[in-house]
Amino acid sequence: MSTYQSPRRVYLETYGCQMNVADSEVVGGILGTGGYALTSDIAKADVVLVNTCAIRENAEQRIYGRLGLFSTYKRENPGILIGVLGCMAERLRSNLLESDLVDLVVGPDEYRKLPGLMDRAFAGEKGVAVRLSRVENYDDLTPLRTEGVCAWLPVMRGCDKFCTFCVVPFTRGRERSRSLRSVVGEVGDLASRGFREITLLGQNVNSFRDGANDFAGLMREVAAVDRSVRIRFMTSHPQDMSERLIGAIAEEVNICKYVHLPVQSGSDRILGLMNRTYTVDHYRRLIHRIREAVPGVALSTDVISGFPSESVADHRLTVDLIRELRFDGAFTFKYSPREGTKAWDMEDSVPEEEKGRRVWEITGLQHAIALEQNRELIGRTVRVLVEGPSKKSPHEYTGRSDTNRSVVFPHADEQPGEFADVRIDRANSATLFGVRVGDVIGAAPQSRGSAA
Ligand code: SAH
Ligand code: SF4
Ligand code: F3S
Repeated sequence: MSTYQSPRRVYLETYGCQMNVADSEVVGGILGTGGYALTSDIAKADVVLVNTCAIRENAEQRIYGRLGLFSTYKRENPGILIGVLGCMAERLRSNLLESDLVDLVVGPDEYRKLPGLMDRAFAGEKGVAVRLSRVENYDDLTPLRTEGVCAWLPVMRGCDKFCTFCVVPFTRGRERSRSLRSVVGEVGDLASRGFREITLLGQNVNSFRDGANDFAGLMREVAAVDRSVRIRFMTSHPQDMSERLIGAIAEEVNICKYVHLPVQSGSDRILGLMNRTYTVDHYRRLIHRIREAVPGVALSTDVISGFPSESVADHRLTVDLIRELRFDGAFTFKYSPREGTKAWDMEDSVPEEEKGRRVWEITGLQHAIALEQNRELIGRTVRVLVEGPSKKSPHEYTGRSDTNRSVVFPHADEQPGEFADVRIDRANSATLFGVRVGDVIGAAPQSRGSAA
């Protein structure tokens, strides 16, 4: 209900990638200093905000579904405001106001304006703020984070790669990095507040640059802040995967031995059309180099199936590459045409059904590989950062290994944020199961020399 309450309350729902999750924490911080408070109960909200994703058509469809529901809710509670944030706001702009029920449209670089825009919207003035910035990185703001074990930490924003299928350069604008000092400072703050895993985020995180410091330099400084804190990073582009970065992953004990490196296709012709700027052979050599430098490293990738003109032969090359490189995980997506991208002008030639069949084949193959990789760990002991009760039972706890595998084990005395060694006795393609061995470790670095 919108009967006056002070401060006014905001219900915020988040879709899309981890960057959006991190942005919602920035928004939480901005609202707090702007006279608004977050609520997790929509029934208590004066404002409903949806932080949206535009990466694929089905991501947007899902959000339209939510907006439909919120509209019904607003008809019953006419005083509330509805706002769309994030990548869909940036892509669709004032078109979103065509539905009478949306009051605010705010893109990823304009969140500082939110409290003012909301104040005015309560006075009846709808607001659109969708300018992209070359400098905004929210460097000076304190995000509102729920206390926990794992934290997301954006270090750069935007993307200059312009892969021909991708909407991100248009919804997120140009690349810009935060200052190394402020990132290192925030890591120290998070560590002292009890966070035990920090993931450095960016659309192209490894193209971070602050003066003479590259991403490898940043990773080394961040890792040295507190050796009992695990450091992860997402997402790297193969073009910027430098030897210096591989060295940092290999040498710094608390940098997790896990790299997500999207390949997108196993066909050079398709990679060219995608403007990925590397060849399959370059990618293959990178994977071999990472495995050589970082023993036991886990690798995952992204694949798009059914890109314009992808033939059965191109698809076979992708399947062969997946079989050859034996990733620990792969996310496979049906190509989804996005208006405004270069690929939008290419004929979407692969029928939906055939895209689905190709995705299904790759997913099936990858499942079988992941199952084999996971079964190889049976009998081994892996160090797990304990996150809390598993989804299925309060008597079981869950955490992740250095290599980002989910591990489930019977709960004894361990607490979230502690490290535990778990001997694996069972595995499926997604999860390892085992029992704890030895005492928990309050705050310890990673075990070295173990494959997981
Ligand atoms: N910056 C990251 C990826 C961000 S989007 C990178 O370059 O790796 C995450 C994944 O979504 C991409 O790796 C790609 O596989 C997929 N994706 C992006 N645009 C898509 C589209 N139009 N259709 C289908 N999948 C897409
Ligand atoms: Fe999109 Fe390519 Fe940028 Fe990744 S690197 S965000 S896929 S344009
Ligand atoms: Fe989606 Fe925007 Fe992230 S399009 S994947 S929320 S950068």
